[in-house]
Amino acid sequence: MSNLPPSLVEILQSRPWLRYDTDAALIFDGVRLQDIAAQYDTPCWVFSASILRARARALKAAFSGINQPISMHYAVKANDHRATLAILQREGFGADVVSGGELRKAIAAGIVPFDIVFSGVGKKDAELTLAIETEIGVINVESREELGRLTSLATRLGKRPKVALRVNPHIDAGTHDKISTGREGDKFGIDWREAPTLSRMAARDPHLDFIGLAAHIGSQITSIAPFEAACQRLAGMITDLRADGIAVKHVDCGGGLGICYHQEAPPDITEYARVIANHLGTLNVAISIEPGRWLSGPTGILLTRVIDVKAQPAPRSDFVFIDAAMNDLARPALYAAWHEVLPLHAGGSRKPEKAQTLAGPVCETGDILATDRVLPPLSRDDLLAILDAGAYGAVMSSTYNARPLAAQIMIEDGKIAEIRQRQTLESLWEAERLPDWFKAE
Ligand code: LLP
Repeated sequence: MSNLPPSLVEILQSRPWLRYDTDAALIFDGVRLQDIAAQYDTPCWVFSASILRARARALKAAFSGINQPISMHYAVKANDHRATLAILQREGFGADVVSGGELRKAIAAGIVPFDIVFSGVGKKDAELTLAIETEIGVINVESREELGRLTSLATRLGKRPKVALRVNPHIDAGTHDKISTGREGDKFGIDWREAPTLSRMAARDPHLDFIGLAAHIGSQITSIAPFEAACQRLAGMITDLRADGIAVKHVDCGGGLGICYHQEAPPDITEYARVIANHLGTLNVAISIEPGRWLSGPTGILLTRVIDVKAQPAPRSDFVFIDAAMNDLARPALYAAWHEVLPLHAGGSRKPEKAQTLAGPVCETGDILATDRVLPPLSRDDLLAILDAGAYGAVMSSTYNARPLAAQIMIEDGKIAEIRQRQTLESLWEAERLPDWFKAE
């Protein structure tokens, strides 16, 4: 490691699952990434099952000291591959879903309906019906209107679904604007000041089994204060509801715990657990959390190959065109997100590093995956790993510019499996139909 340029050393330090071997080849959780690129081509996603399991266990362990029952529902949207869901199910996680599709997928992956919570705005009647009929763990209701629809559906179906109210606590999570969900004016949740009235309505409704409250204030949260504020808000509301004679036996603290992509210093999981325990641990409620990114983010890598380097006059960085783009990993274009990049072979590392900009081939100015990165000089056919792409990576891919979805590989203890084939080009248009009247022309 000592021969490596400083920028690469820094990136490796906080990621013990990555190293360069004696041939200067990048090893991810024991597997040579060059071999995967050679076998499955690029762009391609690589997910480590062992890192996912280790993180799942670490999170469980962090909460093991809490005296209350705690359940963990993995936010399926972060990476919804059935292999990921099955691993987490075996580690004792349920699922947090936000659509009928995710609900069905979680069940298909072996998660029992009882361990599923359904969050999310704009649930259609068909989705609520599915949730009621499959008797999932709890439906987190997002509005007065949704509560009304749920009651009618439950009455019609003759079932009594478990219901919690997702409150909007009016707390700024201090994260990117587009992934903040708990501020006044955000589309999510029931204004916390309206929640007591709606809780009373739900609790008195014979067709609903009102069990408690939920809140999710945002994602990639890197300080503890907003979590603390949300827990305080929930605790206060629970106390007030009980004083009003309403039984509250469940509280869902949402997800949102951030990870270090670059220089962030998010709270560690023990601190996170301590804050939840401090505020909610003595209330005699079953506590639930819905982590997504923290579990799966560091477990995935996007492999890509350099197509060409387009030199730019100083002081501009050269454009390094790679075969991964915003259609594969949307986060940099959507949120100006930073993902570290490592060369798969650090052999040329004795050359002085220089700033380079990694650009995708998509015809959008915003299709830049990394700007002005200090890396060993890159040239055609060099392979790169874009790190921490295990959450909100492959799941957010599109086929824009007729680019097929990339292959997905899972590794564990040196074993390698293709868990999703690269999409075929033909499948991009096989569901398209030409209008009948074209035939007459
Ligand atoms: N629970 C609910 C109700 C959510 O809406 C979310 C994420 C989570 C849990 C999980 O949050 P996490 O633990 O992963 O932070 N595409 C964005 C992130 C969107 C998050 C949406 N909701 C990104 O790439 O940063």
